[in-house]
Amino acid sequence: MTATAATTSRTHHCAQLREGDVGQTVTLAGWVNNYRDHGGVRFIDLRDREGITQIVFHPEAGAAHELAQKLRHEDVIRVTGKCIIREGGENPKLATGKVEIDATDCTILNKAETPPFTPEDAGKVGEETRLRYRYLDMRRPRMQEIIRTRHRVTKVIRDYADEHGFYEVETPFLCRSTPEGARDFLVPSRLQAGEFYALPQSPQLFKQVLMVGGIERYIQIARCFRDEDPRADRQAEFTQIDLEMSFVEQDDVMAISEGMVRAVWKDVLGVDVPPVKRMSYDEAMERFGSDRPDLRFGMELVDVSDLAGKTDFKVFKGALDAGGVVKAIRVPGGASMTRKETDALAEWVKQFGAGGLPICKVENGQVATGIAKFVSDISSDLVSRLEAQDGDLICFGVDARPAVVARVLGELRVKLAHDLKMIQPGQWEWLWVVDFPAVEWNDDQKRWDSLHHPFTAPNDDALDALKSGDHDAIAGIKSKAYDLVLNGSELGGGSIRIHRPDVQQQVFALLGIDEAAAREKFGFLLDALNFGAPPHGGLAFGLDRLVMHLVGTTNIRDVIAFPKTQNGADLMTAAPSPVDDAQLTELHLRTVQKPAAPKA
Ligand code: AMO
Repeated sequence: MTATAATTSRTHHCAQLREGDVGQTVTLAGWVNNYRDHGGVRFIDLRDREGITQIVFHPEAGAAHELAQKLRHEDVIRVTGKCIIREGGENPKLATGKVEIDATDCTILNKAETPPFTPEDAGKVGEETRLRYRYLDMRRPRMQEIIRTRHRVTKVIRDYADEHGFYEVETPFLCRSTPEGARDFLVPSRLQAGEFYALPQSPQLFKQVLMVGGIERYIQIARCFRDEDPRADRQAEFTQIDLEMSFVEQDDVMAISEGMVRAVWKDVLGVDVPPVKRMSYDEAMERFGSDRPDLRFGMELVDVSDLAGKTDFKVFKGALDAGGVVKAIRVPGGASMTRKETDALAEWVKQFGAGGLPICKVENGQVATGIAKFVSDISSDLVSRLEAQDGDLICFGVDARPAVVARVLGELRVKLAHDLKMIQPGQWEWLWVVDFPAVEWNDDQKRWDSLHHPFTAPNDDALDALKSGDHDAIAGIKSKAYDLVLNGSELGGGSIRIHRPDVQQQVFALLGIDEAAAREKFGFLLDALNFGAPPHGGLAFGLDRLVMHLVGTTNIRDVIAFPKTQNGADLMTAAPSPVDDAQLTELHLRTVQKPAAPKA
């Protein structure tokens, strides 16, 4: 903290002075946070990055007192005076609350125009205004805390990585476009007419090549670019803590990654992260309907297909006859929800493909209301299977497609946990999700897609299944991939990679990427694999998401100094913007549509 204190312009920072400093003549510099008058005495709260110190200008200070009358919010000043015990009594809210500065000298370093908002009332203005004047927004303590935390995280990670033998290597921003999943941001080449670079969606291929290059342990705080719609926890431009290691198995990468977040949580929050549990993808989907289950609350999915099959309820029958499932969750105390509230839930689940949401309540040990009359024959079995109590609500997921049932109930349990305030603050539920399927069948396109990326190593027994060509055997292939999940959010993910060119070719073939296409897209990687690639694997954490958890926000824009809005705009610099025709010509480009009018 004190590292910022003394410079040639000041002796202390604004959170530094204590009773022990009384009697010293000091010089402070900063922004006018507040000003007020008391019987001819002028009080200024002077603020810098570290905190606030009260300055008093008595009439005896002459010119300084006169100048202090002119000070307004956010003026930048330097003040010299004597540190004295606060005459008006201690302000326990301030670290410096026992003292004040009796000013003898004051310089205005810069006048500020009346700001659209002050750091103190930034909470009252909309996010758009705060983003437009991000430099004002950044002056408020909460933003300062976030930026400091983010710095702290990268510092702890760099120290940890250094201690564990990682080299920090930068990889290019101007890359070749490779189909990695999301849409690429493209950059036209001036020197090679009609050709484009792509900004990296992640340094994936480069870090693998670094392993072939003998670097053995690589880390980078890497900016990634994906041209997808921003969401609460997703930005088009975001940062990964990206790492890769040679001569390792899955457990080695997981241990290093776990150690890294453990070091961060300890340093930033003083919290010990216990050994992280593991759960297979299949179990996570079965019990929580999600590959990133939130373990802070129960409401697990329970398969009641066998019971549902004993009823004549046509919603159940229809789904089961079509090869589907019926699952249920028990919502503790959920019977207190009104009809209007449960109807709203039934509407809400439709976005996940559900036809509706059958429910019933539990009263006197039996099901009641909702669909109770259709399931009266299985009432006792349902109640005991779900271990339901009086006052609970039972919600059913019913569909011919098991994945829809998982999705609907998986999303619903998270929503209900938040709505019904089942989550205790300060709860950290960590989980490794492992044993992901290597590929999933894309029924629309009639082809296999990789679940992570095409460089993920399948399990050792996969080659036989691949050779057999049998659909079920291929669907059953697991990969050496792992995701680290915290409180239901995917904090990071990675895998052991394919290091043998023959296996890579087989996986490409399965994914419908023929040899020519593979060469065209990833030729350099295939070449590198041919020249002695060590077994290797890695992982990437989402740095922004990690900081979101540490500072307790659900808005990713809060943890990025200069974020983009929902429609990809930077409100402060007004990017993106139209460019001159001359610039376009130089880049061999012509816009087919007239650029939209500049944004207000
Ligand atoms: P993946 O695509 O899973 O893996 O990304 C790794 C982690 O990055 C974060 N993340 C994002 N954060 C904010 N905004 C986004 N748009 C966004 N997309 C991803 C998530 C995610 O867990 N190359 C592989 C990693 C590897 O295999 O080593 C990769 O990029 O927290």
